[in-house]
Amino acid sequence: MKKILLLVPVLLAVIGTGHVVNADDKDPVKKAIEARAAIMKLRAWNAGPLFGMAKGDFEYDAEFATLLADNLKAELAMNNARMWPAGSDSSVYEETEALPEIWFDESEAAEAENAYREAVMSVAEQAGNGRDALRSVIGDLGASCKGCHDDFRAEHSH
Ligand code: HEC
Repeated sequence: MKKILLLVPVLLAVIGTGHVVNADDKDPVKKAIEARAAIMKLRAWNAGPLFGMAKGDFEYDAEFATLLADNLKAELAMNNARMWPAGSDSSVYEETEALPEIWFDESEAAEAENAYREAVMSVAEQAGNGRDALRSVIGDLGASCKGCHDDFRAEHSH
């Protein structure tokens, strides 16, 4: 009897929409988690070659370095607050590495993002001025990624 009762809402849902709703795909929080992972991948995509040029892993190119730094800056012009809804942390969703601490202390998380913002601005100023100029500011950029990850991102394998 219990089973039949449990089925009723499911059947109503099916009749109501004409198809079975897959709650997972529709969860807006999961979409937000995917979107912010995409932002982080974009940061890594643009910052990666800058780190590589600074280290000497490949040849410095002023034009390319400027383009990458400008891309990092362009992303910062977006307001992506909607990608970080309360309750979307790693204690609730296994899809995310975002620690609950982000929401416990939002001012600290904002500070970490601010350090990143400042580092990007310095890199954007210096990236085109030669490898030494890039090297003089790239450390702060790496430190700002790592600083935030150390405090606010769960241990990860990749
Ligand atoms: C202010 C905090 C902050 C800054 C600054 C930051 N990150 Fe992140 N990053 C995070 C958090 C939080 C996550 C976990 C997000 C999630 O899983 O929902 C993350 C995840 C990532 C991921 C994994 C994305 C995925 O596929 O799930 C990469 C790659 C990454 N960051 C690269 C970077 C790089 C490179 C920089 C600097 C150029 C950077 N991040 C700067 C907080 C930050």
